[in-house]
Amino acid sequence: MTETVATPQTEDAPAFPDDRTCPYQLPEQYVSWRDEPRSLSRVTLYDGSHAWVVTKHEAARKLLADPRLSSDRTRAGFPATSARVASFRDSRRPFIGLDPPEHGPLRRMTISEFTVKRMKGMREDIERIVHGFIDDMLAAGPPADLVGSFALPVPSMVICQLLGVPYADHDFFQDASRRLVQSADAATAVAARQDLERYMDGLITELQTRPGPGLLGSLVAEQLANGEIDREGLIANALLLLVAGHETTASMTSFGVITLLEHPDQLAALRADPGLAPGAVEELLRYLAIADLAGSRVATADIEIDGQLIRAGDGVIVTNSIANRDGSVFAEPDTFDVRRSARHHIAFGYGVHQCLGQNLARLELEVIITALFDRIPTLRLAVPVDRLTLRPGTTIQGVNELPVTW
Ligand code: HEM
Repeated sequence: MTETVATPQTEDAPAFPDDRTCPYQLPEQYVSWRDEPRSLSRVTLYDGSHAWVVTKHEAARKLLADPRLSSDRTRAGFPATSARVASFRDSRRPFIGLDPPEHGPLRRMTISEFTVKRMKGMREDIERIVHGFIDDMLAAGPPADLVGSFALPVPSMVICQLLGVPYADHDFFQDASRRLVQSADAATAVAARQDLERYMDGLITELQTRPGPGLLGSLVAEQLANGEIDREGLIANALLLLVAGHETTASMTSFGVITLLEHPDQLAALRADPGLAPGAVEELLRYLAIADLAGSRVATADIEIDGQLIRAGDGVIVTNSIANRDGSVFAEPDTFDVRRSARHHIAFGYGVHQCLGQNLARLELEVIITALFDRIPTLRLAVPVDRLTLRPGTTIQGVNELPVTW
């Protein structure tokens, strides 16, 4: 039995999550948790309920691999970090919200489209898409909004191709996805989800009458047709892939570009040696940790960790932005260094729910940072970084607009 570490009283627990004021710096409260010896801190959520925030890398990995923590957001005690997240309790759960044994078969239906081998086959298509949007930006001339003209359309077009969703519908699904992942209130999120569900239902009907390409086409022709998945389940999982497939990579692109521009020595090293790109992508993932609330769980049994007790029914949030700055794993963790070995970051989570799209995201980001600074070497922010409006901490970290010039 390890020595018990003192934890703050629940009534003193600080509010969580906190907003970033800089794309690549942790909020002050997160830094002080990170620097404390204990692995868990008690926090107060938007509705006055309490949960544990996990702040150490080793404890984060142990807990994400622990079957006593559930991803089922319909279970009592699941920590809702906003009214929007609470509203997901009433919707059909995609596999990100299911525990074993239900989780595995649904994840396996899609995994063949996301392997390293499959990604190698997509590299040329991704390069063509990335260069196509850079051509358009250069033809239109500066200034530009990097989010609207590049960071969002690139992963949007890539995931459309992979799934077999018509890119012509991008204005609709990008807007609805943004409302779904960013709205502060439940009503807007529910309406956005319903819009997306109706859209996906229509696509599935079309694919049933006229078979089409991509992962969605084959899920309709095979798993839906033979009853391995029902229609509602297919809609929920296809939406997970469509939304997760573009919102996250878009945010990483804009925050990644800001970070590289704000660290000119690192950008110069990357431009001088493009072989650094895969490592630079890992370091950006570690440093930026844009999906830092994704590891939300609820305990189904008492769990003791590093001398602290999580009781059955307690909410637990593995905050990868803090765990990725653990100095015992990453030397000088607040320094952005494209040459470090950052592979052990948990920006893609850990355990059975580890990001399905990580190989795709890595490849997209590698092509993006290489091509963008190669083709537009004078790219710079058109406003100072402290004037950018960052998204609130309750959603995927990012910016909705990024004015740039060259
Ligand atoms: C840089 C971009 C991305 C980041 C930072 C990211 C982050 C994450 C994280 C932290 C998780 C774990 C959630 C949990 O523990 O419950 C996750 C899961 C997931 N991600 Fe990503 N993601 C990214 C890109 C993508 C892309 C491009 C796709 C493509 C479809 C995708 C699809 C998924 C899916 C389907 C899951 C659920 C996996 C499961 O429950 O088995 N992600 N992602």
